[in-house]
Amino acid sequence: MPGGASPTQVAVLGAGPVGVVTAAGLAALGHHVTLHDIDPKRVAALARGRLPFHEPGLPALVKKGMSQGRLAIASTVPARGAAVIAFLCVGTPQADDGAADLTMLHQAAQGALPVIARGGILVIRSTVPPGTGDEAERRIRAAGRADVSVVSAPEFLAEGTGVQDFLRPERLVFGGALQAARRVAALFKALPKAAPRILTSRRTAEMAKYAANTFLASRVSLVNEFANLCDAVGADVRDVARIVGLDSRIGSKFLRPGIGYGGSCFPKDVKAILSVAATAKTPMPVAEATDRTNQAQWRRVVATVQASVGPLAGKRIAVLGIAFKPGTDDTREAPGLRIAQAIADAGARVVAHDPVAQLPAGTGPRVEQALTAEAALDGADAAILVTEWPDYAALPWAKIRPRMRTPLLFDGRNALASLDLAAAGFEYRGIGIPAAAPSAMKTKASTPAGTRNNTTNSRKKTKGARR
Ligand code: UGA
Repeated sequence: MPGGASPTQVAVLGAGPVGVVTAAGLAALGHHVTLHDIDPKRVAALARGRLPFHEPGLPALVKKGMSQGRLAIASTVPARGAAVIAFLCVGTPQADDGAADLTMLHQAAQGALPVIARGGILVIRSTVPPGTGDEAERRIRAAGRADVSVVSAPEFLAEGTGVQDFLRPERLVFGGALQAARRVAALFKALPKAAPRILTSRRTAEMAKYAANTFLASRVSLVNEFANLCDAVGADVRDVARIVGLDSRIGSKFLRPGIGYGGSCFPKDVKAILSVAATAKTPMPVAEATDRTNQAQWRRVVATVQASVGPLAGKRIAVLGIAFKPGTDDTREAPGLRIAQAIADAGARVVAHDPVAQLPAGTGPRVEQALTAEAALDGADAAILVTEWPDYAALPWAKIRPRMRTPLLFDGRNALASLDLAAAGFEYRGIGIPAAAPSAMKTKASTPAGTRNNTTNSRKKTKGARR
């Protein structure tokens, strides 16, 4: 047993990214884990070692757990009374009013009860509003299980880095009655000692998860506001963010401006905590503004493209990226998809590309997906980069330029800002950085910029000239 904690029988309910990382991670720590999901197709795929989503490093961890006999996958609830500790990792989607919809969570909690041995623990790993653990406990008592404790152990796993976030956490949080919280904490004993283990109340643990995501989301919205202001006054947000981030009180992470945050967590969690705040009659204007700014950010890109390209009807627009961020195939709440859809709704033909993600069902006939980025860019009247996959910075932009109808490049993530795209003949627009007008309309190899000699004035001139 790595780290000396005794192996424990664990059940994990919900085989989404959080559930699979938690199950495979706990198996890697030496526990005997059964991962359960109600979707038989998902279970069958997992049992064959196939993950239904893209998560670097996870297939190897799952395979290892299974080959060592520590990780089992089950579509039916695992054996009665088999688990000492059961983790709930089911979704808590957004209800119509913005609150977290806890239907699935409470159903799964009831379903988990037969699995949990006498005196066992139900751990809520899903992101849930403060008080959810109390309600789950009340329902568990009503179902006649006074012996089961409920602990909140929120996850801080980001998609794309889930495995390393599990194995090298910055903190571990366990909320609930002290003895039960300690038993859950003991499962993670083998993880690096440097990560503080915080034992706290259940409501505090539940709140901390929302606070973490809302803080991060607010940084993204604030840096986006500064980027927009940089655009307006001719400053460069890259240097602004760097200067701000060098202050150790602020720190340099999550200061990348762009088209707004997406994914299955930030948008939903900010709205959910606002709903909690409304019920508690406690205003949270900063969180409200975070959400508002985020919803406006992708629309700004659409407006900029429309202003530069002119009427979009009949135009072909390339969109680079579909996933909400690189390293994942998740398209939930992807702001890039919103941009693609809005451009298509304005009459353009949108050709999107992503190295991993697929266009979700229901995207509409005016948005199609090309197999390669080059194919998406062929004949395009403009290109919009919406996901900062490293693949896009590595594209042979100088060779691509003559293949586009108009060499207009909108970089929604500033992912190409270090390339001298002006020298390659592009009109380049990032977010909060001085625009670059083509310095030579000849094709020339893209080289790192090094200098930033293109000013807002040059953008204004070029824009005028182009019209
Ligand atoms: C987020 C948190 O980072 C995790 O700690 C948390 O556990 C997880 O939610 C969750 O609640 O389960 P995730 O949604 O996978 O993880 O993605 P992030 O890497 O946090 O990015 C969120 C969004 O913010 C993305 O759209 C990303 O493009 C955007 N972002 C991030 C920026 O626009 N700028 C930045 O500087 C950073």
